[in-house]
Amino acid sequence: MYQEIREQIQAISVPASSTIREVMQAIDRGALGLALLVDAENNAFVGLATDGDIRRALLAGLGLESSVAGVPRPVPQTAPAGTPSESLSEMFSAPVRIIPLLDEQSRVVDLAIMDRRMRLPVAEPSFGEKELKYTAECVLTGWVSSAGPFVTRFEEMFAEFCGAKHAIAASNGTTALHLAMLALGIGPGDEVIVPTLTFIATANAVTYTGARPVFVDSEPETWNIDPAQIERAITPKTRAIIPVHLYGHPANMAAILDIAQRYGLFVVEDAAEAHGARYQNRIVGNLGDIGIFSFYGNKIITTGEGGMLVTDRTDLAERIRILRDHGMSPERRYWHTHLGYNYRMTNIQAALGVAQMERIDAILAAKRQLARTYGAGLAGVTGLSLPPAAAWADNVYWLYSIQVQPERFGMRRDDLMAALQAMQIETRPLFPPVHQQPIYATGQRLPVAEALSQNGLSLPSSAALSPADIARIISAIRTLAGSAPTQIQ
Ligand SMILES: Cc1ncc(COP(=O)(O)O)c(C=O)c1O
Repeated sequence: MYQEIREQIQAISVPASSTIREVMQAIDRGALGLALLVDAENNAFVGLATDGDIRRALLAGLGLESSVAGVPRPVPQTAPAGTPSESLSEMFSAPVRIIPLLDEQSRVVDLAIMDRRMRLPVAEPSFGEKELKYTAECVLTGWVSSAGPFVTRFEEMFAEFCGAKHAIAASNGTTALHLAMLALGIGPGDEVIVPTLTFIATANAVTYTGARPVFVDSEPETWNIDPAQIERAITPKTRAIIPVHLYGHPANMAAILDIAQRYGLFVVEDAAEAHGARYQNRIVGNLGDIGIFSFYGNKIITTGEGGMLVTDRTDLAERIRILRDHGMSPERRYWHTHLGYNYRMTNIQAALGVAQMERIDAILAAKRQLARTYGAGLAGVTGLSLPPAAAWADNVYWLYSIQVQPERFGMRRDDLMAALQAMQIETRPLFPPVHQQPIYATGQRLPVAEALSQNGLSLPSSAALSPADIARIISAIRTLAGSAPTQIQ
């Protein structure tokens, strides 16, 4: 342990005369968000530079080759090695999360790190140096709106990732879904079949067009829309099906595509939560007519807010681009052939997107590893079932979500969530089914989705979680499972 800290300190220590580039490299090596500036002669602590200090300096016009000495930095908090932890706790505040501990020669011998891992969030972005570099480039060049090279680059990278002919960036996943509906000509009088167990945006995008979402229950094995029940929901007004790859597990696409073909329906995949997931070894998003993705802050990759549509159909791609940009004719500026929208993505969002695409394989690998660790640690806990994993599916575990059988586990889902919260482990309930939401309440009963929603919760699932973090969560759940059963009515 001591060795690890020493190596970490070494990795993030640079001479106080270093350039901003060298400091950023040190920050990146340590992944602690700061670098230690030391005297090149005797290694004595001189100061520290956080990634926030560097970001502000770049925004103020300093370049990567400028000396870090010119970067305005607040006076750092330090403490002598051996300071009791209670005293250190009092020194932490929102901006002070790491306190270098110094020996008598002022050398950093330890770091007091405010245990941000005390609280384990359900999802958080995974950022590095590139995100900072590319977004800074937008600011420094002034290309901050939707014109700019990163948008096209992001679209091209994403199209290639999905094996699609076209990718069109949008301002978020919901606007991407709305554009998909509009491009397919869906409107008043039409019906679109959606799973009830999804985030509300899937249904809302249908409603925005004047069409009506028709809710279908989940299949227990995948939690996704039950193909066997889709057919019963089809009427002469049905125009499309929107399967959702919930929490990163693909929907049963062969069955859905078969129904769509037989009834002449469009298929729009809502892959907002499933970047990189595979159905029968084919990446999701490009299996139907259009696929959409979300890059909200908690998603597998993020652009802050952001969305993407993918399609192989050039006619649809062209229509989407026009609708995304105020319905403006591509041939004539300020000439509006359709009622369009401003649903464009900005160059700054896309800059984040490009940086995230450069690391998406690592993020997906981390999520698969996280699922293996959870799976091994939670297997055999009575009254818990692990996330779906159909034989034909490659789940990307946007959120690692489990089901509690209250009688067998000895605790209701909400009590388990509250107990974990008290241990600083954040969880989320599964989405409430859309057919029960106040704006859609239909009086319908869709029992599989209702039960899944009532008993399901998502555990912390960030790619950045360490094995120790996951071990802590597993151990907390195992301890609670073994504790005295609560009263179940
Ligand atoms: C299944 C699903 N569809 C659509 C969306 C909408 O995406 P956004 O939040 O980017 O608008 C989300 C997520 O937020 C989602 O989870």
